Amino acid sequence: MCGIMGYVGSKPALPVVLKGLRQLEYRGYDSAGIAIADKDRISVLKCKGKVADLENLVKRENFPGSTALGHTRWATHGEPSTPNAHPHIDCSGKIAIVHNGIIENHAPLRKLLEAEGHTFRSDTDTEVFSHLVEKFYRGDILLAVQEALTLIEGAYAFAVICQDEPDKIVAARRESPLVIGVGNGNEGEYIIASDLVAIVEHTRQAIHLDDGEIGVFQPSGHRIIDKANMKVEKDVESITWSLDKITKGGFPHYMLKEIFEQPETIYDTMRGRILKEKAQIKLGGLEDLIKLPSAEKTTTGLSHLLNSKRIVIIGCGTSWHASLVGEYLFENMLGIPVEVEYASEARYRNFIVDKDTTVIGISQSGETADTLAALREAKRRGAATLGLVNVVGSSIARETHCGVYLHAGPEIGVASTKAFTSQVCLLALMALLIGREKHVITDQRAGTIIQRLLEIPSQVEEILKKSSLIRDMAQRYAGFSNFLYLGRGYNFPIALEGALKLKEISYIHAEGYPAAEMKHGPIALIDENMPVIFIATDTEDQTYQKVISNIEEVKSRHGQVIIIASEGNESIYDVADTVITIPETEYCLTPLLTVIPLQLFAYHMAMLKGYDPDQPRNLAKSVTVE
Ligand code: F6R
Repeated sequence: MCGIMGYVGSKPALPVVLKGLRQLEYRGYDSAGIAIADKDRISVLKCKGKVADLENLVKRENFPGSTALGHTRWATHGEPSTPNAHPHIDCSGKIAIVHNGIIENHAPLRKLLEAEGHTFRSDTDTEVFSHLVEKFYRGDILLAVQEALTLIEGAYAFAVICQDEPDKIVAARRESPLVIGVGNGNEGEYIIASDLVAIVEHTRQAIHLDDGEIGVFQPSGHRIIDKANMKVEKDVESITWSLDKITKGGFPHYMLKEIFEQPETIYDTMRGRILKEKAQIKLGGLEDLIKLPSAEKTTTGLSHLLNSKRIVIIGCGTSWHASLVGEYLFENMLGIPVEVEYASEARYRNFIVDKDTTVIGISQSGETADTLAALREAKRRGAATLGLVNVVGSSIARETHCGVYLHAGPEIGVASTKAFTSQVCLLALMALLIGREKHVITDQRAGTIIQRLLEIPSQVEEILKKSSLIRDMAQRYAGFSNFLYLGRGYNFPIALEGALKLKEISYIHAEGYPAAEMKHGPIALIDENMPVIFIATDTEDQTYQKVISNIEEVKSRHGQVIIIASEGNESIYDVADTVITIPETEYCLTPLLTVIPLQLFAYHMAMLKGYDPDQPRNLAKSVTVE
């Protein structure tokens, strides 16, 4: 939430920062601003609205400075408005800061600073920090920031510039992401950003700041200091993915591009991890060593997982839906007890986990505040933690005992699509791996599932060809303002996910339920104005006939019935108003296919209503605040 961008070097900073802000806009888009330092002054321009509005504002001015900060905001404290937009300055206008996170003790700090004579210009929590830095500034901006941070409670990524030291950016982080791009060769430049996507165009070298670290970056070099006030030498990591991953590649929206990328991204999740001849799975990240304080000896992530008495999977939103698919996969295929928790709930209750538990955190961004905090709590309570994340080097990737990357490439569309299918695919690989190690899945069964998994990318491609059919279907149903999504077993989480996609980008009210729950309440809503989307693919499953009965119940109450069914199921046409078919696969893998038409349905619905699916109202991609 909120995008931070900064540049210090020898080039004019403004174009670099503006372009970076555009790339970070998925993180927040209710207001934007920049601050540029040169010898004589710090110039600040900001406005309510999008980065494009800021660009219009900036066009009229000429700023040659080579040090600048930028920010694109997702409001937490203080409504979206020009005064509340970042950067915020101190009373003298010599210090400018941008912030991502929440300063929890902003109210007492503000009182204290106002009593000392500081004048505030905004309603934000952030502004206290610019005044605190001013309070402690005695000619060294790094020291002033360090001192100011000792008073801050909450989460933050900060970047700070100062007119008296115009060739420096000071950056600090705690629980909000911040990466530093290190300029190529002798250019002596640094790019400070909330996400690598804003950096890759300039450099392939990056430093990930860890919690509690603070750094000063200037053309002559950098210095990073840790929590204990000791200088740290950080590894400069290489960014491996290519630039085309962060462009729209000819698609009108990132969301559509990412939906269409799924044949490739699902394949990438499997690539190098399947030993087909032996019907075996290899996940290198699980071979990392784990030493829990309460355990006698060091073990690998995989051995811990195999010996765990319980597995708890946590996540938020779409990642929580993937966790639910994981529960079905692990319990059905392996017989291991699994609980799925909302990370936000787990972190604040008596979260009972111990050294015999493996807690799996699922997160696209690897930065979701609740998931990170719940994983930390699990670790504190002695459990082994395992991260399934997409963003390489993210906080969850670094803080868990071990983990496996999704390899889905950057996901920029605010609504998660390709990360979801990669999460489900990875959970299926994990289930196979554990099942093979525990000898509960036979060679033949593993071989069949692996074969079916390898077919998934081309089957997704088949479904994507139906995009215009699904657009027609969206057109037919565009006048309805409520939808019910129902599924059972492996496709109950897909009902939840389909409903979430429709809500978040089309602003249409939708609810997902296990189909059998309909008669315990939601059936009261059914009439001719309530379309119901059923996911009913597996005719062999014991619940299939029961779902058909639910469909009849809806029809007899004049509800419209849309069914996601398997190809070849001719009888389904007798009970449906609209049918979308998916190719046939193993029941446990159907979520990888059934979710695709629902993603497309939500996208086309948003298009028909004239909404921008890449920037849905009130949402931001990475939820780094509570
Ligand atoms: C929905 C969506 C969100 C995220 C959730 C968790 O389309 O994108 O519900 O799934 O905020 O985010 P990550 O996976 O980054 O932890």
